[in-house]
Amino acid sequence: MILSLLKHHKLSRNFTKPFEISLVTSRNCAKILGIETSCDDTGCAIINEKGDILGETLNSQNLIHLRYGGIIPDVAQDLHRKYIEPTVHKTLESAQLNWLDIAAIAVTLEPGLPLSLAIGMKYAKHLSRKYNKPLIPVHHMEAHALVARMQHKISFPYLTLLISGGHCLLALVQGVNKFQLLGQSIDCAPGEVFDKVARRMKLRNIPEYSQLCGGRAVEMAASKATDLNLFQLPLPLVDHKDCNFSFNGLKTSVMYQLFRKEKEHSIEADKLIPEANDLCAALLMTTSRHLVHRTQRAMDFCHKNHLLPDEKKQLVVSGGVACNNYIFNTLTELCNEFDYKIYRPEPKLCTDNGVMIAWNGLEKWQRNIDVVSKNINSLDIKAVSPLGESLISSVVKARIPTKLIKIKVKL
Ligand code: KG4
Ligand code: ZN
Repeated sequence: MILSLLKHHKLSRNFTKPFEISLVTSRNCAKILGIETSCDDTGCAIINEKGDILGETLNSQNLIHLRYGGIIPDVAQDLHRKYIEPTVHKTLESAQLNWLDIAAIAVTLEPGLPLSLAIGMKYAKHLSRKYNKPLIPVHHMEAHALVARMQHKISFPYLTLLISGGHCLLALVQGVNKFQLLGQSIDCAPGEVFDKVARRMKLRNIPEYSQLCGGRAVEMAASKATDLNLFQLPLPLVDHKDCNFSFNGLKTSVMYQLFRKEKEHSIEADKLIPEANDLCAALLMTTSRHLVHRTQRAMDFCHKNHLLPDEKKQLVVSGGVACNNYIFNTLTELCNEFDYKIYRPEPKLCTDNGVMIAWNGLEKWQRNIDVVSKNINSLDIKAVSPLGESLISSVVKARIPTKLIKIKVKL
């Protein structure tokens, strides 16, 4: 009976609300639609209660921003405005579903570019009103940290390292909405440095890299290095016995070496220095060492404070920079040394996407966390939003003297 009703319901768009609600609002049986517009990707996905992806669409603005030399918020907003509706429609179509099948809409509200976030929020509110669906607000960085649970069996608590174009965070994940921050960048993020260095080095003048984001271009150039010791870059924050990060000094050192070599070779407008691959390798190796060093101290801190039981020694690496295989391999070496299991989502789920928002929505839906049915007008965006409760001052106070492991991974 129920099956035939379900079949019928899929074909009809005109059911009354009570029937609709009884079909789609069960906590254990729900399809969640997720919307992501926090930066320069318009993403949408629908997943079911098991975490199967039923439909997904991603409209990346990367190529347009590459042309401008960075993300221009006004341009990003115009593109989100243009693509949000077709992106959501395409996702429903590819999943062969209609609005009656959707239990709730999850949407990124923080942190991110305000002009970009606003488009996702407004459109999600419009859909919520039109189709009478609850909204589930999502924190973009929490979504990066949780999406690994969609494909791997990872139970709470676990340690997470989130590395992207806008953030660098180390946190303990205690639950779907319970995060404890151990460290964060005191200046910029690793992806931002890769993007700026790649641009200034003119890597996109090499046809092979012309369509790639900066991080991927640096990774590919580094893999062709012939002299790994040509440039020595200082390891950031060696004297700070905490888990914070800094990438500004590293960026300045790379730029300094680049200008020096350009002068030495009298480099003209669109030419690259002959040592570009070696300089990319030095940047990648130093970034990895820094990430490993701080993560190693976070492991020490967790161990000393009994924050992770032995069977929960797990590290999840996520965010766009987690796509980098060299970085992931060096972190894997650290995990092997300290008996941790390491996980990362597949590359398309490491970078910004709608699936991670839908997954975060599902995890909240199943626990009845932040499901907003009434008063959706009270929901608003936040450009800056810290991740969970900060334990940073305790980490700083602990002054743990972590001696960086010897990294043997080859580039
Ligand atoms: O998570 P994400 O898609 O967006 C933000 O929330 O920032 O991350 C984008 C960042 C960009 O800076 C990009 O250069 C970097 O991730 N990225 C990489 C790689 N792929 C993307 N960085 C290093 N190696 C890669 N393979
Ligand atoms: Zn992101």
